[in-house]
Amino acid sequence: MNKIDKIFIDGNFYRNLENFLNEKFQNSKFFILVDENTIKKCLPELIFNIPLLNNAEIIEIESGEENKTLETCVQIWEFLSEMKADRNSILINLGGGVISDMGGFIACCFKRGIKFINIPTTLLAQVDASIGGKLGVDINNFKNIVGLFSFPEAVFINTEYLKTLPEKQLLSGFAEIIKYSLIDDDENLWQIVNSISLKNIIIDITRTEIIKKSIKIKNKIVSQDPKEKNLRKVLNFGHTIGHAFETFSLSHTKNHLLHGEAVAIGLICESYLSNIFAGLNNDNLNKIVKLISSVYDNYKIDEKDFDILLDIMTNDKKNIDDNINFTLISSIGKPIINQNIEKKYIIDSLKYYQNIIV
Ligand SMILES: NC(=O)c1ccc[n+]([C@@H]2O[C@H](COP(=O)([O-])OP(=O)(O)OC[C@H]3O[C@@H](n4cnc5c(N)ncnc54)[C@H](O)[C@@H]3O)[C@@H](O)[C@H]2O)c1
Ligand SMILES: [Zn+2]
Repeated sequence: MNKIDKIFIDGNFYRNLENFLNEKFQNSKFFILVDENTIKKCLPELIFNIPLLNNAEIIEIESGEENKTLETCVQIWEFLSEMKADRNSILINLGGGVISDMGGFIACCFKRGIKFINIPTTLLAQVDASIGGKLGVDINNFKNIVGLFSFPEAVFINTEYLKTLPEKQLLSGFAEIIKYSLIDDDENLWQIVNSISLKNIIIDITRTEIIKKSIKIKNKIVSQDPKEKNLRKVLNFGHTIGHAFETFSLSHTKNHLLHGEAVAIGLICESYLSNIFAGLNNDNLNKIVKLISSVYDNYKIDEKDFDILLDIMTNDKKNIDDNINFTLISSIGKPIINQNIEKKYIIDSLKYYQNIIV
């Protein structure tokens, strides 16, 4: 399938899901992919409310980015094979972005493709990972280096699941929401994000309205350019440098950054580059930095690590030739893609981040 299908959010979550399954997959064999957290926090309620899933085979993996690997896929493919999964089977991905990225990939490759549904249970997966059609796994800490584009049959979002999600994970998802507010101004998301009170942040950022607006922005962009030929690159704002921090923290340190935490750093550095090269004014740069540094902990980096970060950026699959390719913003909500930036300025942006966190 090559288009974005249905996304259901809240409302009668269980009734909608049950109707959907009954209508389309009544005679299918169900497999549900979970990790040790979603098996406890989300699966019991799901099965209790949807009797059709009583006989589903549960596939449990260990949570964490370090398990988003081909080795895990092979184990699951073997299991699916033993359980006689066929083209009529359906995989339900119940979890965060690790589950939906890898589960979708597993489904698409098994017997040349079985159908899958995403039920994202983290804020990051609800606003981002589960809805863009990008699927894949990591190799040797290189993120998403093997994968493909394919869309689920449907995405079912239940914001109630966020109630058990740790605060750090919620804030990780919020970084993607900040990103949407910076690359699109149709939904007024920047004003909304700035009106959130830090005291109430956890309640505020899980509001259905904010999640819906974020999905609307991502969906609008992805539906115009599903395979990232052009427009979709706007979604990479904050991610060129963000991914480098994420990979670096996984491969070179014990202090692993969550995806969104790394993106938050990337948003600061790439807003700095936007200020130098794309016309983002000082006032808006300062507002972005103020918002992000009031929400996220500082991440210390050493100047000796700059070269490693640059090396990781050079290896990024989004680059063409040896240039480092960026999406920048010319003002809030106005992205520009395909900006090639020289390495010395990238280092300046890292120094800028280093200076604002001291
Ligand atoms: N495909 C895309 O477009 C896309 C976009 C952004 C991120 N990603 C990928 O998503 C992944 C990160 O996703 P994530 O942040 O959701 O991480 P994750 O899947 O690792 O989940 C984070 C943690 O939360 C736990 N958890 C999940 N739901 C819970 C719940 N309701 N209550 C309590 N605990 C719960 C998980 O077990 C895990 O420990 C990365 O691999 C990243 O590359 C993909
Ligand atoms: Zn991201």
